[in-house]
Amino acid sequence: MALGTSFSFLESCASMPVFKASESDRIISVPIDKFLISNTVLVRTAWLSYDVLLVKKSEEIFNAIYLKCSHQDNILSATKTGLFCTTHGSIFDLDGNAMKEPAIDPLKKFKTVINNNTIDIYMDL
Ligand code: FES
Repeated sequence: MALGTSFSFLESCASMPVFKASESDRIISVPIDKFLISNTVLVRTAWLSYDVLLVKKSEEIFNAIYLKCSHQDNILSATKTGLFCTTHGSIFDLDGNAMKEPAIDPLKKFKTVINNNTIDIYMDL
């Protein structure tokens, strides 16, 4: 699989909102208003080695993607259009699918549930 050229336009994550979870709960509740300025929110915790990228696909569908490369476990860089591994160059889409090798397996995703004013991420590590 070699689809790298379609991701040559990866955007910077400099303006991506960051939500810092304060407790080590199994469920992280991200306020839905974090998506007012972006369809992606970086979720950061003190107890996980990797961030989670929460992606708004539609009003009813949110992806919570663990930013751990499926090739050799390195931290992925998140942008508004895709995920990039600086170690060996793999690229993933915002559904967690590998789009450029050497990674071939998809990324881990967590279950999400939409509540009144939050998106709840179920951390099943
Ligand atoms: S660790 Fe990510 S591509 Fe190798």
